[in-house]
Amino acid sequence: MFNYTAMKLTRIFLLLAASMAVLVACNDQPQSTSDAPVEPAQLAEAGRLIQMYCVSCHAPHGNSEDRIAPPMLAIKNHYYENGMSREDFVKSFTEFVLNPTEETSKMPGALEKFGLMPKLGMEQTQLETIAGALFDQDIQDAGWLDQWIAAVSGQPASKEELTEVQRGKRVAMSTKAILGKNLLGAISERGTANAVEFCNERAIFLTDSMSADQHVPVKRVSDQPRNPGNLANATELEYIAYAKSKLAEGQEPAPKVHNIDGRAIGYYPIVTNKMCMQCHGAPETQILAETMHRIDSLYPQDLAKGYGENELRGIWVVEIPGE
Ligand code: HEC
Ligand code: HEC
Repeated sequence: MFNYTAMKLTRIFLLLAASMAVLVACNDQPQSTSDAPVEPAQLAEAGRLIQMYCVSCHAPHGNSEDRIAPPMLAIKNHYYENGMSREDFVKSFTEFVLNPTEETSKMPGALEKFGLMPKLGMEQTQLETIAGALFDQDIQDAGWLDQWIAAVSGQPASKEELTEVQRGKRVAMSTKAILGKNLLGAISERGTANAVEFCNERAIFLTDSMSADQHVPVKRVSDQPRNPGNLANATELEYIAYAKSKLAEGQEPAPKVHNIDGRAIGYYPIVTNKMCMQCHGAPETQILAETMHRIDSLYPQDLAKGYGENELRGIWVVEIPGE
């Protein structure tokens, strides 16, 4: 008798579970398999990260003519395959953004049109937050990003505890995103040779305007600068030597913070990728004649040629903002 009731209960439970599975399966939005859907705070965090690191290139709206990268919706649609688990989606998305390569690209059309996305140097956990939210949420609606960011409105913006290294990194990465966006835009609009002038006129201006914007000085320096004004000083050269030795061992150089005259100064590596070769790679084979000509006339003392991919081109030097 007792056994019978238990069996019946088990059967009811199995039936319930099965019908829930059907309900879930009938929904065409990708469903989270294991983890619970993102909480408002997580969603707002994902929105904030996308706003800070991605929209300068992946504008959520905007007309197709001045696009320099595909919209997020197109990316989601290329990464999401029917029935895919949240885990697999997050994994393949995060893997690409951590280390963009032509081999792992799922968007050959975008690759050809815009060129390979530069490596951003973000943390894996940040990218998993972004990917998870993109998986869970419907982003058909044009206002999706604003809605995410507003997900926790009413409450003060989540006060995360960032370490000094992370606060400085945020400045370096957002400057990089803006510089990268403008550079890619200049190359696709005017061609590489003319983009040299863009770097010449705009690079310093952009880092300056970023520093004014964020109330923190930020600059790029190198042991082999193109612009002699970007030559690293002794402390910076020490970090450069460290970062080069790490890269030579196939490891990621860790950022460092130094206290100089009571100010916290952060150092962050700048590593080359394929895109950089057209201006910093091998003369003639990678830097074409016309580009070479522009570089040589603007920078007679240029030391920034002959780099390979995945080499240390220089570093970001950031005065770390307070909390
Ligand atoms: C400096 C400009 C720039 C920034 C900043 C940027 N991207 Fe991209 N991204 C691109 C370009 C250009 C492409 C298209 C070429 C390609 O696929 O590599 C792209 C493509 C992608 C793809 C698809 C890659 C593929 O080919 O399969 C993903 C995923 C992606 N971006 C995610 C992100 C995320 C997430 C962020 C913010 C954390 C971000 N991107 C920030 C320029 C950028
Ligand atoms: C269109 C040509 C072009 C491309 C592509 C390019 N650069 Fe540059 N780069 C320049 C020019 C020109 C300067 C000098 C800017 C100045 O006068 O401050 C420069 C300067 C720099 C500096 C500052 C130190 C120095 O040498 O003066 C760094 C760091 C740097 N580039 C890194 C990169 C990285 C990393 C990439 C690829 C992601 C890249 N660049 C792609 C043209 C280019």
